[in-house]
Amino acid sequence: MTGPAPPFNPNVPSIARTYDYLLGDKDNYPVDREIGEIFIQRFPGAVQIAVDNRRSLVRAVDFMARDLGVTQFLDLGSGLPTADNVHQVAQGANPAARVVYVDNDPIVLAHGRALQSEQIIAAKETNTLIDFGRPVGIIASAILHHIVDAEDPLGIIRAFRDAVPAGSYLFISHFRTLGDPDSAALEEVMFQAFGRGAWRTDAQIAQYFEGVKLLTPGIVPCAQWRPEQEPGELSAFQRLVVAGLGRK
Ligand SMILES: C[S@@+](CC[C@H](N)C(=O)[O-])C[C@H]1O[C@@H](n2cnc3c(N)ncnc32)[C@H](O)[C@@H]1O
Repeated sequence: MTGPAPPFNPNVPSIARTYDYLLGDKDNYPVDREIGEIFIQRFPGAVQIAVDNRRSLVRAVDFMARDLGVTQFLDLGSGLPTADNVHQVAQGANPAARVVYVDNDPIVLAHGRALQSEQIIAAKETNTLIDFGRPVGIIASAILHHIVDAEDPLGIIRAFRDAVPAGSYLFISHFRTLGDPDSAALEEVMFQAFGRGAWRTDAQIAQYFEGVKLLTPGIVPCAQWRPEQEPGELSAFQRLVVAGLGRK
């Protein structure tokens, strides 16, 4: 949100553009497609994982805006524009809904850098749209596994949780490690591609929700998070990405 834009290099793969490729969108470069294809070859479920994740986010935003009365959202690691953007989903349920998008990808946002909670909460851009006296829907969808422990992802989420009033919501989706070869191999592919990444155990993912009450169905694979139709038996890949929604 503040500080100079990080340099854009079309020869270095980007998390945002590779995810965009996996979702079937067009804001990506050959280097991102190359990495996307490596994911798909080594993990035939890669596209499904991206789609499951995105769909659970769309359902969560619709649920918050339509049923839980949330009118303002802070979307951390928002990614590139895609089919159902958070503001479109939220405004589809309530035209008055407002969304602040935060990302550090130079193409997503020309003025993004690291995920610095204090700066984001204090930024003029944030406060123009978000009233921290009223409930906020905090979204951290598929971003926290790109933030390593040394960058204190728990502290980042805690700062956002502390900045919002009771009645606010926290939606998180996250890659999980099951301590098996599949999850370890996928983590390694992502680490090789982007030079960072941190899969976390279910217990570690649950820690983000400390101080908030998890709503039904708890933290479950994205495909099983309040699905419109029961997804049936999940593939091993689909179990690698989970989502949860909590109420402060
Ligand atoms: C896999 S995409 C998820 C996009 C969207 N939230 C979704 O779930 O559909 C992860 C996004 O997090 C962003 N990101 C990763 N690390 C970040 C950081 N430290 N600060 C801000 N954004 C970050 C990436 O640029 C990318 O757009």
